[in-house]
Amino acid sequence: MKIISTRHSGIDTLCFVRKVALLVLCVIAVQTNSASLKRSQAPPKSNTLRQAAEARHILIGTAAAPRYLDEADYSAILGSEFSELEPENQMKFQIIHPRSDRVAGPYDFKPADALADFAQSHNMRLRGHTLVWHNQIPDWVKQGHYTEAQLATILQSHIHSVVTHYASKVYAWDVVNEAFKDDGTMRDTLWYNQPGIGAGNGTEYIEQALRWAHAADPKAKLFYNDYDAEVVNQKSDAIYAMAKDFKQRAVPLDGIGFQTHVTLQFDNPDTLASYAANLERFAKLGLELHITELDIRLADSSAASLTAQAKLYGEITALCVQQPACKLIQTWGFTDKHSWIPQFYKSMGRALLWDDKYEKKSAYEAVHQALAK
Ligand code: XIL
Repeated sequence: MKIISTRHSGIDTLCFVRKVALLVLCVIAVQTNSASLKRSQAPPKSNTLRQAAEARHILIGTAAAPRYLDEADYSAILGSEFSELEPENQMKFQIIHPRSDRVAGPYDFKPADALADFAQSHNMRLRGHTLVWHNQIPDWVKQGHYTEAQLATILQSHIHSVVTHYASKVYAWDVVNEAFKDDGTMRDTLWYNQPGIGAGNGTEYIEQALRWAHAADPKAKLFYNDYDAEVVNQKSDAIYAMAKDFKQRAVPLDGIGFQTHVTLQFDNPDTLASYAANLERFAKLGLELHITELDIRLADSSAASLTAQAKLYGEITALCVQQPACKLIQTWGFTDKHSWIPQFYKSMGRALLWDDKYEKKSAYEAVHQALAK
């Protein structure tokens, strides 16, 4: 009897300990659950540019290059801070179509495909740049002595192949880039009049390129893109006249890209007001507006210059945020380590949001704040 009762009380103690342990586990489980519930109910933190832009229904993008993707900092920032990317060079004619259509394998899609894959695996939009441009054209086109008709066939086939390859991947294309001179007349280029496919016919070759691109991917948004057309001036007047004409005749033009490669001189109330007014007149045509190649180059790295740069970055970002038709703010690269500026503008640099050590600059904070406001 005694033995049995001892055994009973032993079992009771065991049960009690088990129950307490179970209770403790339950309490921990409930607390963990309610903590994660609280986390999921809390408003999303906008600690990246991407999160801040998403709350605004704007894309924040950057030009990117595949050769830097294996730098850990580069790919970590690209994949987390941005919701869109555009190949800096890899979709340009010279790189994507380096060989004549008469030889086997005229296209080289690999470099741009690497960026397309990166965009896809990081849930980013992909923007295409650019189908018709007077720079970065391969020698086989430049030195081919083609007739106007042959050149038209080459360009049509190029647009068809590239746009088809990226159909359903590229959501928007810069179809034609930089076709106007500063005075608003047509730029003399291989595509326009040297020998060109539309000499003397003004914007007709741009219309043709848009129609070819639209035929290849009717879902892609088609853009005309240019620099120094941010404010109201002769060049933006000419682009505006073209866009108005195209909208009236239902030519497939969906938007305008404003490159926005600027210096600190751009930080002037009249200039900024003119940029806002310019965006507004294009918006009234029913066009989507993208800031496509934003960078603010500096002549020195003084604290004053970096502060002024941050202020201007914030102001330009705010222009897009305040304009409902503006749907993308894209910088031309994101780290000063890999910016095109020092090569193209003597003794200028430090134009982007991260410095050459991948540290965020005050420009980054200013863009973030303008998006989060
Ligand atoms: C630049 C690239 O950043 C450079 O790497 C390249 O050597 C030349 O082109 N306007 C444009 C972009 O539309 O394609 C240019 O990109 C910068 C100016």
